[in-house]
Amino acid sequence: MYKKIVVVVLVLAMALSFMVACQAKEVETAEPAATTEATVEEAPAAGGLVGVLMPTKDLQRWNQDGDNMKSQLEAKGYTVDLQYANNDVATQVEQIENMITKGVNVLVIASIDGSALANVLEEAKAADILVIAYDRLIMDTANIDYYATFDNEMVGTIQGQYIVDTLGLADGNVGPFTMEIFVGSPDDNNAKLFNKGALDVLAPYIENGVLDVKSGEGKTNEEWTKIGILGWKSEDAQARMENLLTTYYSDENIDVVLSPNDSLAQGITAALIAAGYEPGSETKPFPVLTGQDCDVNSMKNILAGTQSMSIFKDTRDLAARTVTMVDQYLAGQTVETNATYNNNVFEVPSYLCTPVFADINNYKELLIDSGYYTEDQLQ
Ligand code: GAL
Repeated sequence: MYKKIVVVVLVLAMALSFMVACQAKEVETAEPAATTEATVEEAPAAGGLVGVLMPTKDLQRWNQDGDNMKSQLEAKGYTVDLQYANNDVATQVEQIENMITKGVNVLVIASIDGSALANVLEEAKAADILVIAYDRLIMDTANIDYYATFDNEMVGTIQGQYIVDTLGLADGNVGPFTMEIFVGSPDDNNAKLFNKGALDVLAPYIENGVLDVKSGEGKTNEEWTKIGILGWKSEDAQARMENLLTTYYSDENIDVVLSPNDSLAQGITAALIAAGYEPGSETKPFPVLTGQDCDVNSMKNILAGTQSMSIFKDTRDLAARTVTMVDQYLAGQTVETNATYNNNVFEVPSYLCTPVFADINNYKELLIDSGYYTEDQLQ
């Protein structure tokens, strides 16, 4: 009995810490979400085998996500099978099949192609496995249970607003400013949402010519897949930026580049430097350049003045929230959600963590003081 009391106290303390880490927030979505408070009555079922599937090791954030998920689940007594699929869809499908065969109780999946898992997830559901879509919504299937992510449309909104604020557009500055738009992978539903959030903010300025997209590419959210960079590859973003600069900007500078994440921003930066742009230059100053994930390399670029900002999505919080959802579900408790996302089949109960931006002015408080990075890591 004593042990159970101790465990319950510990669980209550940890549940309280999770509530603080990834605050429940009212989210404007098409479907008002039932925000349900978890009632922690008894210790969650310690133990159980959890399969964690991440898309690739090529981008820093997914290594952090995988490490956080593994350490936080193991700390709570779960056994973890963590796999990376090198951005290869067939590999990820095979990994899921193997985990089903191994008898996992839970699958936490950051999908490579959100529309490619419907068949294998039928097998998961037949095996009564809890399926949580992690960060990226899994589309076109009824066979997922929950979605844990950051507010993806808000990511774009913050990026768009950062551009507006930096240029003083809401204060009557009419430019015009030249701008080009980049979009993430066409197989990633997040990329559509990032783009929608940003263009909803920027559309009035594009329409009235204050922001002049000289290429004419990607000016509306409907066009997102036309210019999407498959696999979020830096080198492909670099190639597109090089082509845009050569074709449209030989006789005038580019003032703004909307990049949805850091891997694209790093490729764009390489193209701009090669074209003679440099921070503080009188003749070819670096454009306002957005990003997302606060990768170490992009944070270094922010300190160097080439990238302007990045969205901070604390992967520790997303992992903690996902682990809470696993615990609550396996303990038969109400799983706390604060939104729903439509995946073309149903409104998926979701938990959205809140993104914020980091730039030269606030990175110390956000990233160093929180222990996310050390100062040395960013030198
Ligand atoms: C998105 C993710 C972003 C971004 C991109 C590349 O789905 O939400 O953080 O980094 O993938 O991994």
